[in-house]
Order: sequence, then structure tokens, then C-alpha cells
Amino acid sequence: MDRKVTVVGAGNVGATTAQRLAEKDLCDVVLIDIVEGVPQGKALDLTEAAPIEKHDAKLTGVNSYEATEGSNIVIITAGVPRKPGMSRDDLIGTNAGIVKGVTQQVVKYSPQCILIVVSNPLDAMCHVAFETSGFPKNRVIGMAGVLDSARFRAFIAMELDVSVENTHAFVLGGHGDTMVPLPRYSTVAGIPITELMTQDRIDALVDRTRNGGAEIVKFLTTSAYYAPASAVVEMAESILKDKKKILPCAVYLQGEYGFNDLFMGVPVKLGAKGVEEIIEIKLTDEEKKALQHSADAVQSLKDALKSLKY
Ligand code: NAI
Ligand code: 2OP
Repeated sequence: MDRKVTVVGAGNVGATTAQRLAEKDLCDVVLIDIVEGVPQGKALDLTEAAPIEKHDAKLTGVNSYEATEGSNIVIITAGVPRKPGMSRDDLIGTNAGIVKGVTQQVVKYSPQCILIVVSNPLDAMCHVAFETSGFPKNRVIGMAGVLDSARFRAFIAMELDVSVENTHAFVLGGHGDTMVPLPRYSTVAGIPITELMTQDRIDALVDRTRNGGAEIVKFLTTSAYYAPASAVVEMAESILKDKKKILPCAVYLQGEYGFNDLFMGVPVKLGAKGVEEIIEIKLTDEEKKALQHSADAVQSLKDALKSLKY
């Protein structure tokens, strides 16, 4: 294939992402990890599934970066996931060093790639990748809003007993407890959910969305990975096929929504150039306040990065 995507980290999110990319026949995939044998074994296993899954994507598992050369997209999932009782923010010390080291290697071999960051705490790790890579802002994107919105959509579909395909939702802000689900912009067949449910039920779904990651951690004792992989692949597909989908992603803001020098989740147009436009939607005073609260949380993580030696 003439499109190549590297997935850094062959753990739960990385391996599932590689699987979904290949099974959608989107690109060749290079899976890379520091643990010897794991990316090789998973890539081979996925290759052996290809005749049944009917795709021709080439999957390669490696421990060094030469094979990643010339990737169109590099997805960074390397790092540690959270355990029960931990917040995403607790991972900052470990993952900042990992994301920095990974980014340095990625840039060496794929200087023109688009970086999609998945490692947590997401918004802070986007800053690390952005600063380390020196890439322009359209080529560093964080995955969180697509996942958080998919969770909200799943809960809306369950609540109203309708097809998930009829649902649309927007969750903006940082990828943490302060994220901002927007019921006014969340619809079923084009009808805002504010016309379809009581405020109490909306509040309950918003709350479940905010705690969606923790709900899974409680069951699995590690982070979710099926929905996160689906979310990152939706972003990669929009870029690889230049689909120009409008998706909520963490991007570098320079004045948009009133925020500066900050990565945070907002609706963007994703196409071949990466972030092709930041869409500014009108917010009520209450929604603006919630977004400000979320931005404050991201800013304090960004400040915490400064005091870390990574
Ligand atoms: P995992 O532990 O299953 O996999 C992480 C992999 O990264 C491991 O295989 C590990 O060996 C590898 N790794 C560590 N250091 C590395 C390095 N320097 N270079 C290459 N590989 C390295 O963890 P999982 O569940 O896949 O999660 C990965 C990250 O993604 C975590 O930080 C997690 O919090 C985050 N995450 C973010 C989501 C989001 O919405 N943005 C959703 C789900 C997970
Ligand atoms: C999630 O939301 C842990 O960020 C990850 O599932």
C-alpha cells in the first residue's frame, strides 16, 4: 500500500489500533514497542488473520525506528495506563519522558508525518509531542474528544433505544473529569437531546460520560482500549482519505475560544494536511464557564510539566 501508519506502543490500545487500521484496509502498519518480541508477535498474529479478514495491509512489528521511516501518520500510545484509583493526571511523570523520547525518534525517521497522541494525560502529552517535534500545529493532534463523544453517543442510544447511527455528540475541553459534554449540540436524527430527555436524564448521561474512562478501569483494572482504538482510527481514516470530517480533537489553540498556547479539545476539520480548520461554535455563558474550568485544569497540568525533569 502507498500509505503507512506507525503505531508506537504495542499494548492494549496500540495493538487494537493496528488491528482496526489493517482490517479496514487503510494502510500498511508498523507496530513498535520497547518490549522485544511483543510487536513482532502481534504483527505476525494479525498478518495470519488477514486471509480470513480479507485485507492486504502489511503489518510489521519492530523494536527500532528504521522501519517506521516515511510514515504518513504516527500514533503514540506508548506509556503506562492508569490503575484503579489513579487519575489520568497521575501518569504525567512517567509518560512525559516516554512521549518525549518516542517523539524524538519518530521525527528523525518521519519528519513529514502527522502525529496523533493518545498517551495520557492527553492534553499535556500533546504539549510534549508538539514542543519536542517542532512540528507545525496542524500536524500534532490529540485523541480524546472522539472517544468521549462516542461514549456519550452510546449512552444516548441506550437511553432512547435508538440506533447509534442516528446519534451525534460533541464533548469538548480537556480529557479529564472537567471535560465538557454539550447536550445542545448532541442530537438524535438531527433533534437536540435537550428536546428528547429530561434535564435529570441528560445530567446522568453527562456524568457517566465524564466518568466513562474510570467506569472501564473499575472493571478491567486497566484502561479501555476497544473504543479508544476505534476513535483514533476514525481520525486516521479522515486524514488518510482526506475526508475532512469534523471531529472533536485536542489541538493547539492560539486565540480560538479565547485560549492561547494550550492544547484542548475543540471541533476541527481533519484532512490530508491534518488539522485544516478549527471550528468555533457559539457557546452559552454556562458552556463557556465549563470550558474555562476545563482549560484551567489543562493549564495546571501544563505548568506541572515545567517542574518535571523529563
Ligand atoms: P499498555 O500498557 O497496554 O501499552 C502501553 C505500551 O507502551 C506497552 O506495550 C509498553 O511496553 C509500551 N511502551 C512503554 N514505553 C515505551 C517506549 N518508550 N517506546 C515504545 N513503547 C513503549 O497501555 P494501553 O492501555 O495501551 O494505554 C496506552 C496509553 O494510552 C496510556 O497512557 C493510557 O492512559 C492512554 N489512553 C488514552 C486514551 C485517550 O482517550 N487519549 C484512551 C485509552 C488509553
Ligand atoms: C479513557 O478515557 C483512560 O483516557 C482513557 O478510557
